[in-house]
Amino acid sequence: MRRPPALGPCRASWSGRVSAALSPLVIFFLLVLPLGLATSQVRLRQACSICRGIADRFKQGLTDTAKKNFGGGNTAWEEKTLSKYETSEIRLVEIIENLCDSSNFECNNMVEEHEEHIEAWWFKWRKTNSDLFKWLCIEKIEVCCPAGTYGSDCLACIGGSDRPCHGNGHCDGDGTRGGDGSCSCNKEYKGEFCLDCSNGYYNSHKNDTHSVCTACHDSCKTCTGATNTDCQECKEGWTKNEDACVDVDECAVEDSPCSSNQYCLNTDGSFSCKACDISCSECTGEGPGKCKSCIAGYEMEDEKCTDVNECTLSEKVCVRENEDCVNTLGSFKCVCAEGFEDKDGVCSQIIKTDKAVSENTSSPTTHEDL
Ligand SMILES: *[C@@H]1O[C@H](CO)[C@@H](O)[C@H](O)[C@H]1NC(C)=O
Ligand SMILES: *[C@@H]1O[C@H](CO)[C@@H](O)[C@H](O)[C@H]1NC(C)=O
Repeated sequence: MRRPPALGPCRASWSGRVSAALSPLVIFFLLVLPLGLATSQVRLRQACSICRGIADRFKQGLTDTAKKNFGGGNTAWEEKTLSKYETSEIRLVEIIENLCDSSNFECNNMVEEHEEHIEAWWFKWRKTNSDLFKWLCIEKIEVCCPAGTYGSDCLACIGGSDRPCHGNGHCDGDGTRGGDGSCSCNKEYKGEFCLDCSNGYYNSHKNDTHSVCTACHDSCKTCTGATNTDCQECKEGWTKNEDACVDVDECAVEDSPCSSNQYCLNTDGSFSCKACDISCSECTGEGPGKCKSCIAGYEMEDEKCTDVNECTLSEKVCVRENEDCVNTLGSFKCVCAEGFEDKDGVCSQIIKTDKAVSENTSSPTTHEDL
């Protein structure tokens, strides 16, 4: 690729503004140029992946056409035509036709632009350079780099091309003509070289070129080893006790961190607030047996909050005439006795009409429905 990186849109605004005042120039350098560089970076990486795709499809094409024009027999004639086909232009054309999806503009463009290279490889270089990707994408059209290298000159990544980022991260632009070779480390690692450990990890193995970071004990924020005595700093919810980080019992304090109808449940490094049983107004744990006090309509009995049966209290709670008391959980209801119905706040006798009965003699519950 002899042409400079594509800066089409930038050049347009450049030429239009060359003679203008300083400020558009400043805007150009501050905004447009970095943007152009960013998109050209994207293009450099894209170009490599397009070329890689082409090389992969070529390989697939070779497989797909390998058995073509071969009847399955084994005559001398077939063998002769087959070996001719194997290296023929017909086969090449068939493969090239399938290198790109028809909608893939960039791919078709690249194939068209470099068809001569592909042909040269097919007829001349294939025997000695069997890897089309390497020959075409890296060496001829120079859109890719060998693995572990990056940028226009295919420089080795940090940590060397064999183990970019010392095997603990990803090298920016790896295998492409883009990027700057810097490392983004896996989450356990940090630093320019991905040899240092992130917070919460410690070096279980380290020399100049190799580093293995392993997770600290749950209780440590930072550590030098695997157990809770190796913490440098305790994680939140844990505290130093002698040499070890131990769990803080957030529930042991006098003022519970939970609201009044909840109980506090201590957990490793934390705590949670859980709802009391519905019969408790305050509680120390789960269920009706852990109430400290009961809600209205319940009373403590055998260390449990149990429903009060208001209907059996010595003082009557349903006081109207012909009225029954019905106990409910936490309360009670006053209803008219059987054979009576509520009329203007008074329980009056239900008057049966013959008409209703005769119309529905089949129903056994007739008199109750009325
Ligand atoms: C560093 O450690 C790795 C992995 O254990 C080992 O293969 C390598 O030889 C070591 N390098 C040096 C210089 O000790
Ligand atoms: C007759 O009884 C049926 C079933 O018990 C009930 O669905 C229906 O409403 C009753 N009809 C009258 C007129 O009471």
